[in-house]
Amino acid sequence: MPKSKGTIGILTAGGDCPGLNAVIRGVAKAAMHYGWKVLGVQDGFRGLVENRVVPIESINVSGILTHGGTFLGSSRDKPHKMPMGGKIMDMTEVAVANYKKQRMDCLVCLGGNGTQKNAYRLQKAGMNVLTLPKTIDNDVAETDITFGFDSAMNVATEAIDRLHTTATSHHRIIICEIMGHDAGWLCLGAGIAGGADVILLPEIPYNLDVIAESLLNRRRTGKRFSIIAVAEGVQPQQGEDSDEEKGSKKKKSPSEDEIFKQAKVNGIHLVQEPVASRIARELQTRTGVEARVTSLGHVQRGGSPTPFDRLLCTRLGTKAGELLAARHFNCLVAVKGNRCEPVPLSKVAGKKRIVPTDHPWIQTARLVETCLGDRTV
Ligand code: F6P
Repeated sequence: MPKSKGTIGILTAGGDCPGLNAVIRGVAKAAMHYGWKVLGVQDGFRGLVENRVVPIESINVSGILTHGGTFLGSSRDKPHKMPMGGKIMDMTEVAVANYKKQRMDCLVCLGGNGTQKNAYRLQKAGMNVLTLPKTIDNDVAETDITFGFDSAMNVATEAIDRLHTTATSHHRIIICEIMGHDAGWLCLGAGIAGGADVILLPEIPYNLDVIAESLLNRRRTGKRFSIIAVAEGVQPQQGEDSDEEKGSKKKKSPSEDEIFKQAKVNGIHLVQEPVASRIARELQTRTGVEARVTSLGHVQRGGSPTPFDRLLCTRLGTKAGELLAARHFNCLVAVKGNRCEPVPLSKVAGKKRIVPTDHPWIQTARLVETCLGDRTV
């Protein structure tokens, strides 16, 4: 058997998304092609700290291109702040020790913004790392796109399509809440692709009166239904309180945020009302039109990757294999135009790519008369 050129570990961290298995396959196959030994680290950075590492052979990555999720498992645990037996501990040294114990030359980390930061910390602690941009949120800096985004956008678009037919039949407002954390890419992309009439993004604070007026304008022109795509991270414009909140302030009762903070201190985990429900209630009151809410939630992260993502994942994964072969470490494998290119991790970690308010997609939405919550259409 030819001598191994070196050993890599692969881990998947943060929220899962379609395409993780496709990337693991791409990295592993290309790395094996260049003579590297491949190890899988289970459940993200926790598996590294707990030294839960399994060998990956060609047979293990066969037939997984189309499978959703990650066969390695994932977690949101950070090496420097890891819950261990009821305490939060800095496990960085243990992570580095296990990396050395497994004789790894590089740890390949598939993840979003949290993972980029954690990998960079491990790089500074002495490990070689390579990262790949994973997230349905599409908000990793220095890459044109992240894998998982297209698959999630397909799910969200199909959901909006289905909501259209029922909203039309019942002449209703239907509000569809879409994931994306603090970035509006997924909501904007699916909203445009699904023809939503109102799209609300974290990057553009909304005004309920403006939205209500746009909905009523649609009614006046004979359009009796409306679809609103709401990103989970949306915020109202400053000073804009809901009617209910105005009332509660008069009574000097604690704000919702205060109630949640206090509950946390008391060890109670309250489930927050989805933002879409609050907006629906307010718009129903202001327009007199019946409103319904659909929150897509984790459906957006499940299932098989789209052909676009399968291709992207395979390109990114094999590029990572080429970089390993060249011993080019400590970078993000990013998409720049038609190419996959390394970007130093120091330029990526701690940054976030949100939707610029002058992005062409914003102008596109406005030109097809979509209300973005800041101006009436
Ligand atoms: O980052 C991906 C994402 O799906 C976000 O869009 C969402 O806010 C978050 O993860 C949900 O996280 P969890 O799966 O931990 O509830």
